[in-house]
Amino acid sequence: MAAMYLLAQRSPLKGIAFVGGRRRVDILCEKEFAALGWEVRPATEDGSHGEKGLVTQPLLEELRKPQAASRHCRLYACGPTPMLRAVGRIADEFKIPAELSMDEHMCCGVGVCLTCVVRVKTGETWEYQRTCTEGPVFDSRKVEWEEA
Ligand code: FES
Repeated sequence: MAAMYLLAQRSPLKGIAFVGGRRRVDILCEKEFAALGWEVRPATEDGSHGEKGLVTQPLLEELRKPQAASRHCRLYACGPTPMLRAVGRIADEFKIPAELSMDEHMCCGVGVCLTCVVRVKTGETWEYQRTCTEGPVFDSRKVEWEEA
């Protein structure tokens, strides 16, 4: 959430921060986003704070509102890979650009060990790119997700 907060801090526009976690204690930076004038929509899997369920649920609800179509939405996401994959699918469905900060394990952090690679589309094929040096943020349309 720290990276998302820094992004919000530098944004000239106010947005909506969808913040998710398993429990209430996992919801971070809620007050900080609100202090920037952002709307905050928490979701917890156990229902202890905000909407009960996955964080993608309130995002979908927002995007399905009629007024959402007239907005120039853009999604930024960081967190666990299954959530990023879900956000990528939502971005495709609503034809919204999305930037995903890929949550891969990193051993060296300098581009040597290749533990952090993700598949990135390059025309008709794909190649591995290192999240530590080429990322960690990738355009969701470029990510070639491995079969779940
Ligand atoms: S962490 Fe070692 S190559 Fe990326």
